[in-house]
Amino acid sequence: MHLKPIGIGASTIDVWQWSLDVPLDALPQLVSALDEAEFARAGRFVHERHRLRFIAGRGRLRAILGAYLGVPARRLSFSYNAFGKPRLAGRGEPPLHFNLSHSGGMAVLAVSDRYRLGIDIERVLPFRENLAAHFFSPAENEALAAVPSQDYLGAFFRCWTRKEAFVKAHGAGLSLPLESFDVTIDPEGQPRLLRLDGVADAPAQWRLANLALPRGYIGAVAAMTAGNAVALNYRGRRQPAPGRETRGAWHPGARLERSQALRRASSM
Ligand SMILES: CC(C)(COP(=O)(O)OP(=O)(O)OC[C@H]1O[C@@H](n2cnc3c(N)ncnc32)[C@H](O)[C@@H]1OP(=O)(O)O)[C@@H](O)C(=O)NCCC(=O)NCCS
Repeated sequence: MHLKPIGIGASTIDVWQWSLDVPLDALPQLVSALDEAEFARAGRFVHERHRLRFIAGRGRLRAILGAYLGVPARRLSFSYNAFGKPRLAGRGEPPLHFNLSHSGGMAVLAVSDRYRLGIDIERVLPFRENLAAHFFSPAENEALAAVPSQDYLGAFFRCWTRKEAFVKAHGAGLSLPLESFDVTIDPEGQPRLLRLDGVADAPAQWRLANLALPRGYIGAVAAMTAGNAVALNYRGRRQPAPGRETRGAWHPGARLERSQALRRASSM
């Protein structure tokens, strides 16, 4: 397969952000980009809203990666590591590294032509349980304990998304103990990996970055850059155009398009 040369470069990570609540007329194209396994997965969602959001996430992921590579979205194929992390299928280093995250109705995607990476976003919502004690390292819990109560939620989600982005970049999923590494939790300055058990130079090898996101969301990117500094390049931020029909607000004309778009997904 011919692949277009990709020019993201050593000092940049591309970041894409989009809404998963897509206009109805966008669905046919998104559905047609999925492969059979993705259709099957879409069909297993119990709630239609989740099914449509999965389709909007995968479909656009494929369209974006296909555009970098000069390949139709439908022709891309993914393989998965033992922990479910997707990559472009093929031998050796893939031409692109990518990672996707979604929360609520929003998706973000990080893309690099050279660095293994991970991305995570979360909607900032209050919670009751002591999640920090359960998920964060002793050093992170100590840092969090010093945060004034009005800043707690932000600090918690900064820590969470930085850790999660690192876990996703690392690729080992939940087999990487969450207390085996520390991240910074401050809002100011460059976020950093402070420690990774057994890898003394990990803090110098890895780069973390905050995502600039709409109000109510917090996110982070982690990449193994072997010490290179990187900046985020935000690309293709798209919001539904005013007045366009969005999922969930049906009208008779839209029903036909919807049923055409979703026939394959819902017939499984
Ligand atoms: C996938 C996982 C890595 C992240 O889950 P999540 O935060 O619910 O989901 P996100 O939206 O951020 O990411 C999901 C996407 O990441 C990718 N992904 C799946 N497994 C992955 C893995 N092991 N590593 C990296 N990326 C993965 C997929 O593209 C997936 O998209 P899809 O569901 O549309 O196929 C999850 O399996 C996990 O192990 N999470 C750790 C949970 C935890 O305890 N976190 C504590 C943080 S302090």
